[in-house]
Amino acid sequence: MKTILGIGNALTDILAVLKDDTFLKEYHLPKGSMQHVDMATGDKIWNALKEVGVKYVPGGSAANTITCTSIFGMPSGYIGKIGNDDLGHLFKSTLEQYGVTTTMLYGTKSSGRCMVFITGANAERTFADYMGSALEMVPEDLKPEYFKGYDYFHIEGYLVQNQDLILRAVQMAKEAGCIISIDMASYNVVESNEAFFHNLVENYVDIVFANETEAKSFTKKEPREALKDLARQCRIAVVKVGKDGSMVQSGEEYHFIPAWPAATIDATGAGDTYAAGFLYAHSLGMPLMVCGEIGSIIAAKVVEVIGTKIDVPRWKAAKQEIRELIAANTPQ
Ligand SMILES: Nc1ncnc2c1ncn2[C@@H]1O[C@H](COP(=O)(O)OP(=O)(O)OP(=O)(O)O)[C@@H](O)[C@H]1O
Ligand SMILES: [Mg+2]
Repeated sequence: MKTILGIGNALTDILAVLKDDTFLKEYHLPKGSMQHVDMATGDKIWNALKEVGVKYVPGGSAANTITCTSIFGMPSGYIGKIGNDDLGHLFKSTLEQYGVTTTMLYGTKSSGRCMVFITGANAERTFADYMGSALEMVPEDLKPEYFKGYDYFHIEGYLVQNQDLILRAVQMAKEAGCIISIDMASYNVVESNEAFFHNLVENYVDIVFANETEAKSFTKKEPREALKDLARQCRIAVVKVGKDGSMVQSGEEYHFIPAWPAATIDATGAGDTYAAGFLYAHSLGMPLMVCGEIGSIIAAKVVEVIGTKIDVPRWKAAKQEIRELIAANTPQ
């Protein structure tokens, strides 16, 4: 079995369901927005939320992907930075419960967290992120031995706040012989780091995952044309278009993959799980079309639940559907 290592911002989601917008107004958080807050504000909000009642869910894009590859049965590792506190310990132990081998580094600040306020009848989400120790990860933290024995290395685009860290990581991953994949994370991340992303994709990355808006920021083109552009710059390009499916291209080989049927209630986590399914299938030597299909099957499960964690019945169903697909594509 091939192995995968991921790197990302180690963040725990702190979810609070609020009966109205009073709290948001008090902390000047525009409904539906994503704000970065400093430690003092972050602590104040968290303390106030504790009285409302909160749920803790370790997250972060790459950590979600890696948790998912681990559940698929792929030996999976994760590098991230936390504070030496309860939230950090929860992050580490949760990943380990899912079978992930963690290399957790410790920063001087408290652990990163993403406070999510769920309000109104259609469960609108407002975010206040405090990055804490996650932002303290530096190139000097990385050691070649962290990468030894891994076949795949997956990066979340959100790490781009530290370009030198990503460069060091991809160089070490290349030296260790890893296939390198990146999820572009968000269109504004791409927009504000365009030159850097171009250098990364052209010189280091084998597999790119971008959604429609990220692909547009990167290429200035609509999905199908954006995919062609991306495929000229790396080995495998994937452009995802939500409920309309996804497209994969490698050289001249092109596939459109419809989304798997789903009773969608919350699209959070679709991109992260899609990447996990795709990489898992790729590690088994599946054709590109099947990689996209397996990504779509697992993504269709996460959109049926609130949050990023697929429940056990849906995991069972997904594994069954995926087993059948793999068997149908494996020569007897
Ligand atoms: N409503 C849906 N129904 C079924 N499948 C979906 C739905 N939304 C997303 N998916 C699946 O998930 C894949 C990735 O979704 P999407 O295009 O939203 O990526 P993304 O924008 O990176 O997601 P995220 O917001 O989680 O980062 C799609 O290509 C599709 O296969
Ligand atoms: Mg995404």
